[in-house]
Amino acid sequence: MAQRVRKAVLPVAGLGTRFLPATKAMAKEMLTVVDRPLIQYAVEECLAAGIEEFVFVTGRNKGAIEDHFDHAYELEATLAQRGNKQAELKQAEQATIKPGNAIFTRQQKPLGLGHAVWCAKPWIGREPFAVLLPDELMVGTPTCTAQLVAASETTGGSVVAVVEVPREQTKSYGIAAIKGEKNGLAEITGLVEKPRPEEAPSNWALIGRYVLEPEVFDHLDRHETGAGGEIQLTDALAKMIGGKPFHAMRYSGGRYDCGNRLGFLEANVAVALGRADTAGETRALLERLLKG
Ligand code: G1P
Repeated sequence: MAQRVRKAVLPVAGLGTRFLPATKAMAKEMLTVVDRPLIQYAVEECLAAGIEEFVFVTGRNKGAIEDHFDHAYELEATLAQRGNKQAELKQAEQATIKPGNAIFTRQQKPLGLGHAVWCAKPWIGREPFAVLLPDELMVGTPTCTAQLVAASETTGGSVVAVVEVPREQTKSYGIAAIKGEKNGLAEITGLVEKPRPEEAPSNWALIGRYVLEPEVFDHLDRHETGAGGEIQLTDALAKMIGGKPFHAMRYSGGRYDCGNRLGFLEANVAVALGRADTAGETRALLERLLKG
């Protein structure tokens, strides 16, 4: 029986250059979709998958993330004193992580996603773990990570979420070659980071959700550089093919790439339209704006 996935690694050291000047003094993971920061969606996605321990791989200027998941005593005390702010108090209190369940470690140098994940090695040990890239926002139930965890319990080994992308976009993603797809799960036979469309083995793209066996650290230990001169997670994953089971899971829920401005805008509108408390007003607002 597969070991339970208890821990998640959240790489949050990126500079967020595509969102300058917003990210000049603020972590890009703190950008809000409707009323909560991107990083909170990732944490909630983990909690819904039964994962309660977090390793945040941070960098300079990322202190707000740590503060966000702690108690905000002044704010909470003030809200508690005002009799009519109970809902707001609950919102603030809910955005905390259980004492002792979060580690914040710094990547120190921007050497790539593979290096960021490797920085979590001492805190993960030798057990399977999840990786979530918070600028990919997933919505839907069961969550993408819950689906991955469930898949890994049936297949054993590592499982990564994939979606089909238009061929011209392969250069933005890790791309998987797969075989024998059954019930949305397929064996991975190859992995390439950001191939040009004419060199891509398929158009199945990795979307920043992984359940990985700890063997990935053995490959990351070598600190080999790949695409873009960076230590790539995809390259370490490619080396795992042929070892323990390794599958791609076709993800079919909502997905918004908040790493670019349009995807981020889309996420805000889509999440607002999908929530009972904001759907009606948002729809009316959009209709008004579109009428001009
Ligand atoms: C990273 C990964 C890539 C993956 C992508 C998903 O790239 O390296 O394999 O497909 O996230 O968003 P990035 O977008 O950080 O350049």
